Amino acid sequence: MAYNLLKGKKGIIFGALDEKSIAWKVAKIAKEEGAEFVLTNAPLAMRMGEINKLAEECNAEVIPADATSVEDLENLFTKAQEVLGGKIDFVLHSIGMSPNIRKGKSYGDLNYDWFLKTLDVSALSFHKVMQVAEKQDAINDWGSIVALSYIAAQRVFPDYTDMSQAKAVLESIARNYGYRYGKAKNVRVNTISQSPTKTTAGTGVGGFDVFYDYADKMSPLGNASAEDCANYCITLFSDLTRMVTMQNLMHDGGFSSMGISEDIINMIQPK
Ligand SMILES: NC(=O)c1ccc[n+]([C@@H]2O[C@H](COP(=O)([O-])OP(=O)(O)OC[C@H]3O[C@@H](n4cnc5c(N)ncnc54)[C@H](O)[C@@H]3O)[C@@H](O)[C@H]2O)c1
Repeated sequence: MAYNLLKGKKGIIFGALDEKSIAWKVAKIAKEEGAEFVLTNAPLAMRMGEINKLAEECNAEVIPADATSVEDLENLFTKAQEVLGGKIDFVLHSIGMSPNIRKGKSYGDLNYDWFLKTLDVSALSFHKVMQVAEKQDAINDWGSIVALSYIAAQRVFPDYTDMSQAKAVLESIARNYGYRYGKAKNVRVNTISQSPTKTTAGTGVGGFDVFYDYADKMSPLGNASAEDCANYCITLFSDLTRMVTMQNLMHDGGFSSMGISEDIINMIQPK
């Protein structure tokens, strides 16, 4: 059911790779809620993914941008404002990638060039997006910017390796830029800390199936799906959450407040 929550709003959605992507679901629901937006992804991902199918379904233009390239981001924000005919109201940063995870490196054997790449793609890109937007004065007053995070920013999940640091930096950037953008333009900046989700980025993490099941059994509501996450993103883009900023918002079915659950106890010590 649609509520017209984003009627008249213009957005930029980063990170829709295929139908499983969280950003894909956000785009579909944003469309239903009345938003107009452009879709963007790294040029390479565009060739691998199915973003043009989504663009057709949402009647949206695709503007390629490597989120680590300031030049690409400048072009993106300029073109997006031309295409949409005005300033931007919401931005979704749904980007994550670690070469160390891709290559199966353990935490004690990280390649540091790749570590820097992880930080650049998964965290600094968020700062770059906002710095470019601010310099172009591309965001409307009371705009909303959201990035997606994971609880490994605060707790240890061994196979998440250098992405844990990237998420900690991402969340810190949200707080610090949130202060700056809030003072300047009443723009709010938040991260959503999402349950494990079966997407390309998610399932690329070693042992994903185990920690997906573990989180599901720990959380009283079970894991939050990509659709649930997309719905939450939409509320943060809407005018109903105008005073929420500089937060890392747990969207995890209750996982982050749990110590142990009966389901886990029964697994370890069956009656
Ligand atoms: N899947 C999970 O379990 C989970 C849990 C919590 C948070 N997240 C976060 O959600 C976000 C979206 O991931 P997803 O699960 O939908 O997976 P996904 O693989 O569908 O999306 C990741 C996206 O990042 C894009 N990307 C990578 N490098 C880029 C670059 N240089 N420039 C621009 N885009 C680039 C990819 O092309 C892809 O579209 C990520 O930040 C991820 O860390 C995922």
